[in-house]
Amino acid sequence: MKVLVTGCCGYIGSHTCVELLDNNYEVIGLDNFSNSKKEVLDKIKRITSKSIKFYEGNMLNEELLSRIFVENKIDAVIDFAAYKAVGESISIPIDYYINNVSSVLILLKVMKKYKCKRLVFSSSATVYGTPNKVPITEDSPIGGTTNPYGTSKLMVEHILKDVYKSDPTWDICILRYFNPIGAHSSSLLGENPNGIPANLLPYITRVANGKLAELSVFGDDYDTKDGTGIRDYIHVVDLARGHIKALQKLEKEKKGLYIYNLGTGTGYSVLDIVRTFEKTNDMKIKYRIAPRREGDVASCYADPSKAREELGFECEKTLVDMLKDAWNFEKRNF
Ligand code: UD1
Repeated sequence: MKVLVTGCCGYIGSHTCVELLDNNYEVIGLDNFSNSKKEVLDKIKRITSKSIKFYEGNMLNEELLSRIFVENKIDAVIDFAAYKAVGESISIPIDYYINNVSSVLILLKVMKKYKCKRLVFSSSATVYGTPNKVPITEDSPIGGTTNPYGTSKLMVEHILKDVYKSDPTWDICILRYFNPIGAHSSSLLGENPNGIPANLLPYITRVANGKLAELSVFGDDYDTKDGTGIRDYIHVVDLARGHIKALQKLEKEKKGLYIYNLGTGTGYSVLDIVRTFEKTNDMKIKYRIAPRREGDVASCYADPSKAREELGFECEKTLVDMLKDAWNFEKRNF
């Protein structure tokens, strides 16, 4: 089975390529390196001893996308190609909507033309906005996103639902990720954000290696056990495995549109993460309490039971694995 992976060199895309190759899928990759590096292709090869057939370019390029479909008999697409920096999305919303929404419309148009109607889409727990309850189930209300990044994911979910409604021969799986962290156990693949990281884990690893002075803990007055924000951190390799389960579901089930949370079901506070990182890696992380960050919610974690029951998906890695792998990746690469 041939799978087109858009954004194949990015953080989640690269780990998913490894899982696909290990599960004997043929992978056709597309990336424009806007937030990733070419060397990731060699690293995927070193880990799996297999290659992907790679195209360099942008998903907005309809001609290139068409050529990929003409030159390869694509059976399914996993779409990771998107911008993901929340703060940046507030400054440059037009770029975000073009890159995250228009590109999907072009992809869907080309997929339809070449009669490939099987798609796994990267969505985010951010579509739940401020959750009305935790743990969050897939039937919880969506909307109320607080930034263009989140709204772009919400918009694409609506688009995919309309597409499926208009033509139920599509086979679509929307995966709502919680907070992916960690790295491949080889330390060859991991998260490498441009500039100063906005997300918690890459920030902590850069404080750990001395590149940043201290962590600001955004708020200690939330209604949580220690006042700091609670999130559902999931190891990126588990998350990647979730995509294989989604593809397998689409292969064996009747046509449909399916939505799953990918999280562990356990919430950890910011201070839990700092303390577990310190203990796991035997070091101190300097931090100070700072004001709340705009747009943050107090508590966000998944009810993972639907993915467990319908996909047979369960996370295998612990928080200690996540924090050890994240630090090993940082140490080895930066
Ligand atoms: C954010 C986005 C989410 C996106 C994810 C990964 C929102 C509301 N959330 O999740 O859509 O999928 O990034 O890109 O749009 N924290 C600190 N100090 C820091 C950084 C973070 O205390 O320097 C805290 C935050 O307040 C939060 C937790 O750590 O409580 C996790 O933050 P972060 O890693 O940025 O992820 P989210 O905001 O949950």
